[in-house]
Amino acid sequence: MTTMDQITALCKRRGFIYPGSEIYGGFANSYTYGPYGTQLKKNIKNLWWSMFVERREDMVGIDGPILLHPKTWKASGHVDTFNDPMVDCKNCNARHRADHLVESKLDGSADGWSLEKLSNFIEQEQIKCPKCGQREFTDARQFNLMFQTQMAKTGSDSTAYLRPETAQAIFTEYKNVIDTMRVKVPFGIGQIGKAFRNEITPGNFIFRVLEFEQMEIEYFVHPDQWREHFDAWVALMYDWCEIIGLDREKIHELDVEGDALAHYSKKTIDFEYEFPFGIKELYGCAYRTDFDLSNHERESGKKLKWRDPATNEEYTPHVVEPTFGVDRTVLAVLSEAYQEEALEDGSARTVLKLKPVMSPVKVAVLPLMKKDGLPEKAREVLALVQAFGNCEYDQSGNVGKRYRRQDEIGTPVCVTIDYESLDDQAVTVRDRDTMAQERVKIDDLVSYLREKYFL
Ligand code: GAP
Repeated sequence: MTTMDQITALCKRRGFIYPGSEIYGGFANSYTYGPYGTQLKKNIKNLWWSMFVERREDMVGIDGPILLHPKTWKASGHVDTFNDPMVDCKNCNARHRADHLVESKLDGSADGWSLEKLSNFIEQEQIKCPKCGQREFTDARQFNLMFQTQMAKTGSDSTAYLRPETAQAIFTEYKNVIDTMRVKVPFGIGQIGKAFRNEITPGNFIFRVLEFEQMEIEYFVHPDQWREHFDAWVALMYDWCEIIGLDREKIHELDVEGDALAHYSKKTIDFEYEFPFGIKELYGCAYRTDFDLSNHERESGKKLKWRDPATNEEYTPHVVEPTFGVDRTVLAVLSEAYQEEALEDGSARTVLKLKPVMSPVKVAVLPLMKKDGLPEKAREVLALVQAFGNCEYDQSGNVGKRYRRQDEIGTPVCVTIDYESLDDQAVTVRDRDTMAQERVKIDDLVSYLREKYFL
C-alpha cells in the first residue's frame, strides 16, 4: 500500500511538487508545482478541456475573474452559509474543525450537526486537542471560509472576496453567453481556474489546501429533464476517471444526504477515491436547481430566463454541475501510478505507471555517449518524437540511472541512440512498465510510438 510519505518524497525529489516558500521556512499548506508537476497538471487540464469543452457541440468555455462583484456572494449564499464549525483549544489556541474532532471519536459523519450538539459531544467525550493533548475548547462557532481582501477603490464597502468556487463566474456570465453565442438549452459552460478557501484544517498534502484549482461545468437544462442529464454526467465522470488511469474499484459513490448537502444542492453524488490516507471526496456532481440563476436574477434585477425558440416556453434553466478538483486529480493520479518494484537482480525501482496521456515527459531520448556524433543523432530523433508533446534529452551519467530517473517521473518510453544507430539508422526503444527493449528503425519510430503509446 502506497503511503503519503512515499508520494510527497517522490514529488519533492523529482520536481513534481515542492513545499511553498521553503527558503523562508515554509508557508503552511501552500505548495509550488515544480516542472513535472506543472506539466502533469497541464496535461490534466488540457485533456479535460478537450473532452468536455472543445469536443462537444453543447459546451462553451469561459475564463472569469477571481474577484467578482461582492453582491455575487450574497446572492450565491456564500456570505451567509459557506461556513464550517470551528473550536479553539483554550490551552494552545490551535483551531480545529469541530465536526472533524467529533468524527475522530465517532464512527460516522457529523455533517449537519448543530453547533450545540458538536460542543456538547466534544465536552462529554473529553476529546483531546490533536496539537497539545488538552481537553478544553471554546464553544463551537461558525467560520466563513471565504478569503476577504480590501479594494483600493473605496466605496460604501471595499471588501471583496477571493472566489471560493469557479462556478459563480459562470452564473454571472450566463446572460452574456446566451446573448452572444449560438447556444440552446440544454448547454453548458466550462471553466478552469483558481479557487480559495480559508480552510480551518487543511492537510494531507495537496488534498485540502487554501488555494487550489477547479474544473467546473454548469450545465443548463429544462427543469423537467435534470435527472437524465444528471445521470449522463455521472456516467461521463466515470469515463473521465478511467481515461486518466484511475481504477474503477477505488472509486466509491456517495449519495450525499440531508444536512450534508451544500446549501445550493438538491442532490449530490460525491466521487470518493481510495487515497493513501483514506476514502475521501475526489469530485462531485450536483443538481443545483435554479438556485443560482434565480438568486442572481433577484439580486441583480437582470432577467436570467431562457425562452425556448421552438416552444416559446420561458423558464429559468436548472443546473447540473459536474465539478473536478485539479489538485485532487493530481494526487489521485500519482497515488494510483506509484509503485515500488523488486527486480530480479535484487535491486528495486520506483516507477510511476502513468497513462502516457498523463506523463509529464512523453519520450526520453538518451545518447549512449556524449561524443562521436551520438548527441547529434539523438537530437535528430528528439525533433521527431517531440510530435508527441514534452520530451526530454538526457546525456549525463550511466544509462541505467537515466532509465531509473525516467521511470520515477513516469516517462512511458525511452529511446537510446548507440554507435550502431549511426550505421543501421535504428534505435533501442525501452518500455517503462515491462522494461523490455526493442530495436526500431528511425524511419518507423514515430508510427511505432504512436501505435503503441500515443493513439
Ligand atoms: N462548485 C461546487 C463546489 O465548489 P465543492 O465540493 O465544494 O463544490 C468541488 O468543491 C471540488 O473542488 C471538490 O470535489 C474537490 O475536488 C475540490 N476542492 C474543494 N475544496 C478543496 C480544497 N480545500 N483543496 C483542494 N481541492 C478542493
